[in-house]
Amino acid sequence: MILKVVTSNPGKVTEYREALSSFSIDIEHTRIPYDEIQTSRLEDVVENGMEHLKASGLTDFIIDDSGMFVGALKGFPGVYSAYVQRTIGNAGILRLMENEENREANFQCCIGCNLKGKDIVVLGKCDGMILKKETGTEGFGYDPIFSHDGKRSFAELPIVEKNRVSHRGDAVRLLMKEIEKVV
Ligand code: IMP
Repeated sequence: MILKVVTSNPGKVTEYREALSSFSIDIEHTRIPYDEIQTSRLEDVVENGMEHLKASGLTDFIIDDSGMFVGALKGFPGVYSAYVQRTIGNAGILRLMENEENREANFQCCIGCNLKGKDIVVLGKCDGMILKKETGTEGFGYDPIFSHDGKRSFAELPIVEKNRVSHRGDAVRLLMKEIEKVV
């Protein structure tokens, strides 16, 4: 089975390729821009994006919208994670978190999958914390400042290990349970 992963982020493609290889699903990286609506729910962004892509004739694809939600910042950057990463970046988040004792944060990943004419939407989650400084060179985005175990950042984990514990890995496992019902 081949699924097109529609994203401009090569880091996500690498993670999907690794996570789905054990299910004998091949990944085709597809770059088609689609509108991301401004809303407070990742699911709404994904469902809207799926409608846009289906209307353009695309089938058998995956899109994902992810965000990092920081407790002490009342869930910010959340659905604004891409914009915040592009503007203030990891250094900006660390500045906002200076002198903050509560480091609790979570990552969420909403996957939308169109397969054999059916739509599946799942939400994966990973609880963790914001580190005090950037660490590690793997991964992408907020990986250097987020840790699931309070010891190593996501950017210090080999990809197989990140997929085992991450929001995207969680979402992929939920997706596979749903795909099994379709195929
Ligand atoms: P989007 O899903 O591509 O809109 O991602 C939102 C923002 O969160 C982007 O800046 C991504 O780099 C970041 N992001 C998404 N997933 C991850 C991840 O697994 N690790 C670190 N940052 C991520």
